[in-house]
Amino acid sequence: QTAPMREPRDSTHLVKIEQAARILRDGHVVAMPTETVYGLAGDAARDDAVLEIFETKARPRFNPLIVHCADLEMVQRLALFPKLAQKLADQFWPGPLTMVLPKRADAPVSDLVTAGLDTIAIRMPKHHLARELIAAAGFPVAAPSANPSGKLSPTTAQHVLDGFEGRVPVVDGGPAEEGVESTIVAVSDDQLVLLRPGTIARAQLVEATNVPVLDPQDKTIKAPGMLLSHYAPNAAVRLNAVDCHDGEAALNFGASGLESKHATLNLSPNGDLAEAARNLFSLLRQADQQGVHTIAVAPIPADGLGEAINDRLRRAAADRN
Ligand code: TXA
Ligand code: MG
Repeated sequence: QTAPMREPRDSTHLVKIEQAARILRDGHVVAMPTETVYGLAGDAARDDAVLEIFETKARPRFNPLIVHCADLEMVQRLALFPKLAQKLADQFWPGPLTMVLPKRADAPVSDLVTAGLDTIAIRMPKHHLARELIAAAGFPVAAPSANPSGKLSPTTAQHVLDGFEGRVPVVDGGPAEEGVESTIVAVSDDQLVLLRPGTIARAQLVEATNVPVLDPQDKTIKAPGMLLSHYAPNAAVRLNAVDCHDGEAALNFGASGLESKHATLNLSPNGDLAEAARNLFSLLRQADQQGVHTIAVAPIPADGLGEAINDRLRRAAADRN
């Protein structure tokens, strides 16, 4: 089948659902709110739309995208659905969980989305505007986080406008409720592999399924979002700081008490990990905007949601070149 003709690209601003759906049907990209972070959406079936996603982000083509669906019917046209996937869907969809599943041979999805893999990453977002947009478009959308590749993920519409300098139209859904990207699990018949920690914690996955949740064997894996230097602010990031040096901004958690002349911020004064996740990317940006050479970050507990927060912080702190 031939793709529909592509209308020329216009707009540069905030758009409503109907206009956003039209942009998607015209084969272009639009940023949409989700409960995790904002996504850069395009028709998952169209090469031209998916290419526009990669080009807009300057994302390496070998890094596959998550496909977002509004309902299970859409999902089942794309992927095989083992029993274990059904269990997870019952418990966590719609919501911040992405499942990597065997792709159907006849799935109406551009090969660019899966980067040639025989699996496909699928998520059913909870944010009502994401759901309305996908339903209005009438097809699944591929959507990576709506930031230039390697930069901090956006949790507000303004972050998206800033990141792409107004070149991408955005549906404004307010600040993201979760604040870090979805938990990604590879699902087979009898086990799960946790490819990326998120706000659905490891323990919740075990509790919901009673199967082991393993770590990826091969660290070069296929969850390339896993490239170490990712989510990077311009400043360097120093983890587990117990004091704050000259020229550093301070990012506290609970009563950690780091103090900076430039910016003294707190992920959650009460030590609440959900609040810390929600604030993480915004406060890293805010600290970064002070022009400091380094952001000193207090220790964050490792359990529960802390696994996802520490994962993003380690990536932000990783060596870059
Ligand atoms: O919360 C989220 O997941 C956000 C919102 C917009 O939905 N999206 C997001 O997308 O974080 P992105 O592209 O930034 O991260 C997608 C991750 C990448 O690490 C990619 O490698 C992995 O999903 N991925 C995609 N398809 C995969 C597959 N078939 N197998 C393994 N990993 C896959
Ligand atoms: Mg991303």
